[in-house]
Amino acid sequence: MNIAVFASGRGSNFQAILNAIHQGTLPATVTLCLSNNAGAGAFEIARLHNIPAVHLSAKQFPNETAYIEAMRELLHRQSVQLIALAGYLKKVPPAIVHSYRNRILNIHPALLPSFGGAGMYGHRVHEAVLAAGVKVSGATVHLVDEEYDRGPIVLQRTVEVEQNDTPDTLAAKVLKIEHEIYPEALKAFAEGRVTIHERIAWIHSHS
Ligand code: GRF
Repeated sequence: MNIAVFASGRGSNFQAILNAIHQGTLPATVTLCLSNNAGAGAFEIARLHNIPAVHLSAKQFPNETAYIEAMRELLHRQSVQLIALAGYLKKVPPAIVHSYRNRILNIHPALLPSFGGAGMYGHRVHEAVLAAGVKVSGATVHLVDEEYDRGPIVLQRTVEVEQNDTPDTLAAKVLKIEHEIYPEALKAFAEGRVTIHERIAWIHSHS
């Protein structure tokens, strides 16, 4: 399975995906790393692993159509079968979501459908979790549709929220499990073990 990783920032989930591939647990190849941010840490990771890295931003194009066509052409050229958003802060254009229906995944650092949606990223998520006083948080891998953080949920894992947690300590606990469940979810896709019916996705243990 050829994966494109879209990342805007440091890229630790990208690194976790590569680790799983190198350890032989994830039968996939990352054929493209795309970022809207020329300074993304993810580009450094891509460079170290000889993975084609492309800075693509709507600002580079005269209009939305040209931007979408460039993205589509890139995905086609790199034979991308699945897109993994890993800290990608831009909305994937609806035309691409349409073409890659049920083949775009995202990881969110909370238990969706709570604590998601536009503007809910980074520390804001963990601040909101602490402010709500919930006793568990976690990470969610979900399919991407036209709305932020709303597509079918594929995999979730929880962490305990403790009394002395700060947004930083909670973020660190959640990130640790993100690095486990993202490769696991991708593996299920690579092995054809995911079924999606309307808004419900299930991972099976055998294909
Ligand atoms: C992660 O917390 C992820 O859940 C969110 O953005 C962050 C990206 O971190 N979508 P990294 O760039 O993978 O280290």
